[in-house]
Amino acid sequence: MIEPPENAVMIGTGKGGVGKSTVAAHKAGFHAARGERTLLICVTSQDDDDLGIQRYDRGIHPDGPSVLDGQGLYRSLHDRTPLLPVREVRPNLDVVPGGEAVGELTQLLMLRMMQEGFAVAGSLARALAPIAGWYDQIVIDSAPENDGLEQLAAAAARWLVVPTRSDDTSIRGMKRIARNYKLVRRNINPHLQVAAACLYGSNPSATSLHQEVREDVAKILGASTPMLRTVVGYREIPSANARKKGLLFSEYAAMLPASAKSYDVAAGRASRADVVPESIVPLAREMDSLIEEIGDHCRKAAAS
Ligand SMILES: Nc1ncnc2c1ncn2[C@@H]1O[C@H](COP(=O)(O)OP(=O)(O)O)[C@@H](O)[C@H]1O
Ligand SMILES: [Mg+2]
Repeated sequence: MIEPPENAVMIGTGKGGVGKSTVAAHKAGFHAARGERTLLICVTSQDDDDLGIQRYDRGIHPDGPSVLDGQGLYRSLHDRTPLLPVREVRPNLDVVPGGEAVGELTQLLMLRMMQEGFAVAGSLARALAPIAGWYDQIVIDSAPENDGLEQLAAAAARWLVVPTRSDDTSIRGMKRIARNYKLVRRNINPHLQVAAACLYGSNPSATSLHQEVREDVAKILGASTPMLRTVVGYREIPSANARKKGLLFSEYAAMLPASAKSYDVAAGRASRADVVPESIVPLAREMDSLIEEIGDHCRKAAAS
């Protein structure tokens, strides 16, 4: 059995594209910006890079071979050594980057599973333990559609937050995470708890849809699962721009006052890419509110 750090939150759903990585990066950035020492672990084979670590070469890299593209995470688990994060990607924010090499973990875990049994799912928890004490907040992003990786993340976390969208495949994804949640709790990490579920990237005014999702969440994750009130709206342009620039929503929003305007583009003084869209402001606000709500629910669950 494993005792995961009390402050470790996994963002997980068994489906891609519901906003896990976006929420995970923003939650990590949110805490770091408030002066809390924060670690983000990306147990995912996509190279999302919301923080611009690779694209803009941010942070202080550990000595030795590259830890980018999930290579650091892979090596730690393969060699059974402590995680080696990229330090200070932002003040107070360290990151274990995800990427292609994380996909290769699946095979390694399967091989070891045959010899060591389900304890293998605790590999990440064991690699995290020696450095966990450094951090006030630990956020774990997880891979969709991969039971092995999902279990790895779940075994290292105390809290599970489940973002979902209002469509059928998201609901199916929720069933997958519910299954892995139970499996991990029963076999290796009895401390894991569902802190909350939330709707992400949908139209906040579609209330009848939201009601349906609430009912599905209750059915699949349990009637006592809190559903967060904040719904981060679907806003493709500001979210895509921010990601391209390797900036969190709030960081991108802070550039708005100094941004070029449409009339500058029309006059040939600036290009489209220089214009920060106004819709970044509500997007950043909703994200902050979502993250505060996640924190409230984790605290509430911890106290109960
Ligand atoms: N509020 C939003 N509105 C529209 N698109 C978004 C929003 N937030 C994130 N996205 C985009 O949606 C895609 C999927 O998000 P991501 O966080 O990577 O999901 P997951 O990690 O669950 O696969 C990304 O391209 C991301 O930039
Ligand atoms: Mg992702």
